[in-house]
Amino acid sequence: MWGGRFDRGPAEIMEKINASIDFDRKLYAQDIAGSKAHAGMLVATGILTRADGDQIQAGLDAVKAEIEEGRFVFRKDREDIHLNIEARLAELIGPAAGRLHTARSRNDQVATDFRLWVRDALDGLIGQTTGLVAALLAQADAHTEVVMPGFTHLQVAQPITFGHHLMAYVAMLERDIGRLRDARARMNECPLGAAALAGTSFPIDRHMTAASLGFDGPTANSLDSVSSRDFALEYLAAASILGVHLSRLAEEIVIWTSAQFRFVSLTDAFTTGSSIMPQKRNPDAAELARAKVGRVIGALNTLLIVMKGLPLAYAKDMQEDKEPTFDAAEAIELVVAAMAGMIADLKPNEAVLKAAAGTGFSTATDLADWLVRALNMPFREAHHVTGRIVKLAEGKGIDLDALSLAEMQAVEPRITDAVFGVLSVDNSVASRVSFGGTAPSGVRTQIAAARGRLGL
Ligand code: ARG
Repeated sequence: MWGGRFDRGPAEIMEKINASIDFDRKLYAQDIAGSKAHAGMLVATGILTRADGDQIQAGLDAVKAEIEEGRFVFRKDREDIHLNIEARLAELIGPAAGRLHTARSRNDQVATDFRLWVRDALDGLIGQTTGLVAALLAQADAHTEVVMPGFTHLQVAQPITFGHHLMAYVAMLERDIGRLRDARARMNECPLGAAALAGTSFPIDRHMTAASLGFDGPTANSLDSVSSRDFALEYLAAASILGVHLSRLAEEIVIWTSAQFRFVSLTDAFTTGSSIMPQKRNPDAAELARAKVGRVIGALNTLLIVMKGLPLAYAKDMQEDKEPTFDAAEAIELVVAAMAGMIADLKPNEAVLKAAAGTGFSTATDLADWLVRALNMPFREAHHVTGRIVKLAEGKGIDLDALSLAEMQAVEPRITDAVFGVLSVDNSVASRVSFGGTAPSGVRTQIAAARGRLGL
């Protein structure tokens, strides 16, 4: 394809380091779609005859069929997917194939192919993440009244509801969906027609190719068109942040399913046994979801590092954009699917959660708030008085509401038995009606609002 000024073929190791066909064959459909759009535009602008154009279109369809039916022979000596397809096209239709590359370079070709691929990946991930949000909303909706401990520092802090906890992840994932949509909107411009780097002297119509490939328009600068991979970086960055959120959820599932917590149960469908310990039920899917996110973050780092030192315009370094991106896409799609499965599968153990919600003097803040409201005590003083009451209960090895009124009055004589009304975990969560708070009524509002925003 480019041997005119060469006397000899490449060294074996040259071919090995240079060839990308083993991984960029994944771009065959995008490459053929791009070529068909380009050929169509070349005919429409009179650069190519209709007869040649028709032969090219039919030939590209034939190549596509060969690939999809497993009859295509991918050749390493033909370097990459672009040259493999073009060489096969030449075998099938003869000289007309040689006219397809008019006003085009592999530089704008690969940039276009890869954008089309990343765009599909973005669309797929947006849909999949929305499905996961739907699963979270269903579980949250079913468990708005289930009380559990809320933690800070993994120490019991205040009672919350199970639905509220899940809705925290819905909030994160909604932002993730927003980031993916933003990336999609920003990247939807077509580099085709930038040619090698400077544009072309042929009277091409870049708006036409852009429109026929579903882009909003052509990229504005031909140099940038072939030099930039920030569309892939944004995809990987958004996928990494999504991955971080899902890894935290996975981590919580690992903790929650342990014998020490028993907050939730997973069925046989999402657990595995041990080959030596017959009693074991391990949350492998959650652990692997947590681990696979490492690949996504790794891919983001890889591509950032590949790009950071490249002078404009194209450099072969950029061929290294694909493997990490493909690997990350496979990983994040697997993680989202596994998490959606686990969320639908898990069952909160309501009695365990409720008992745990009352441990660690979790309603101490409610007691302090009561002192402020009933006795008009400054909060700092109420905090101190409550601390002494907690200390008293701790010394006796009992919960706050197991103290007698007399015992509390020994610390603060003005306390009345109305205080017992605020010490239960159910009362605690029901009272937290501030916007975005954990009260079941508020969580139901959050659920309805999220459903409305996502059209679920
Ligand atoms: N296989 C190459 C890649 O993925 C295609 C572009 C080649 N361009 C070039 N000037 N050698 O980046």
